[in-house]
Amino acid sequence: MPVTLVVGGQWGDEGKAKIIDYLARDVDFVVRYQGGANAGHTVVVGTEKFAFHQVPSGILYPKVTCVLGGGMVIDPLALVAEIDGIVARGVDVHGRVLVSAQAHLVLPYHVLLDCDSEDRRADGAIGTTRKGIAPAYADKARREGIRMADLLRKPASLRDLVGDRVRENNRLLKARGMKPLSPKKVIDELLAARTRLVPLVADTRPVLWEAVAAGRRVLCEGAQGSLLDIDHGTYPYVTSSSCTAGGAATGTGLPPSAFDRIVGIFKAYCTRVGNGPFPTEEKGEIGKKLRELGHEYGTTTGRPRRCGWFDAVAARTVVKINGMTDIALTKLDVLDTFASVKVCNAYRTGKSTMDVFPADARAVESVSPVYETLPGWKEATSGRRLEDLPRPAVDYIRHLERLVSCPIHLVSLGPERSAMVRIPHGPASLMGA
Ligand code: IMP
Repeated sequence: MPVTLVVGGQWGDEGKAKIIDYLARDVDFVVRYQGGANAGHTVVVGTEKFAFHQVPSGILYPKVTCVLGGGMVIDPLALVAEIDGIVARGVDVHGRVLVSAQAHLVLPYHVLLDCDSEDRRADGAIGTTRKGIAPAYADKARREGIRMADLLRKPASLRDLVGDRVRENNRLLKARGMKPLSPKKVIDELLAARTRLVPLVADTRPVLWEAVAAGRRVLCEGAQGSLLDIDHGTYPYVTSSSCTAGGAATGTGLPPSAFDRIVGIFKAYCTRVGNGPFPTEEKGEIGKKLRELGHEYGTTTGRPRRCGWFDAVAARTVVKINGMTDIALTKLDVLDTFASVKVCNAYRTGKSTMDVFPADARAVESVSPVYETLPGWKEATSGRRLEDLPRPAVDYIRHLERLVSCPIHLVSLGPERSAMVRIPHGPASLMGA
């Protein structure tokens, strides 16, 4: 049975967790493949709200096994606290969380260095989540990382390894004017977490290969979004991992040929948290209205998100990079009260226009969006069925499909599990709606 991948199509916060929660009803495994505690995945079940950071969103379904893949950078203390928090809310996680031996650890010096780099950048700050993500991936790339597999060493050997790393990083911290960390404290805290994590650490690759071979259903969950991808995003205003579909293969050990459905998640408008170019950003009343109606505040940091209209230039580029087979459009209901809605279909720069998102973020900074304006629907859509959606809302969905050349198969109309419309396959699927 092939693998489904869910990937963010914008700058993160597209509502991936809700779509994963919807798709996870029918799967056996949900696998995270990159990122770490920078992610904030919110699922609403009845009156309860769950915010996941490192544990895959599928944990709420008792038969789902959740895998934290080798492409992740995991804060071990935060992971233990997150698992305890989930258990405290009555979810039985026993035997249902596996952590790849290949995943790297985020340690306290990574967090301090991330914060310091941000403070030093001042006006040029990336706007990171300050969770230590970039320094942890940098250590991985310079081959100085500590991996989950290292937790399986004898305590004395782990003490030596971590002690050495803390002392090396203390030199860096001191050079940057920060207080050094106590190696003993870092080691003791890690050893306490180790006791809890060792039973979860495994070579998750054969687990997934065997699952796929046995016809079990596997869903891979992307974190952040394609425009924050280290290679394809608005570098340097990106995260430090491969959020796009390619990262799902390296971050899980599943071969690229295993992925047969790649679902792109897009909000019906755009948001971005953190700094960097955002061509369709609305800095005035419209942006404010989108933020308030869409409750656009970061799950991990609480920061207000920058808001603007749907960007079809970025979206069609991202559809291609990921090979998206279909799209889930989220938060369409946030547009319910607008008299008209705008979509950016090209960028203008000087006398020329472009319809592909530029490879260089500096080029994105200088473009002006070229908009199309469509009629709004001025009706509440939340809770409606496909056949009851207002005509302009259906026209908006169909227009986006055409602009980005990818079918929209799911439309989310509110935070609740039930507020979801499935559009059956086939080009005529929306014709009667
Ligand atoms: P970092 O991943 O903490 O290094 O942050 C780098 C950039 O990615 C910043 O602009 C963050 O705001 C953004 N970012 C990281 N994680 C998320 C996320 O889960 N949602 C939205 N933006 C994110």
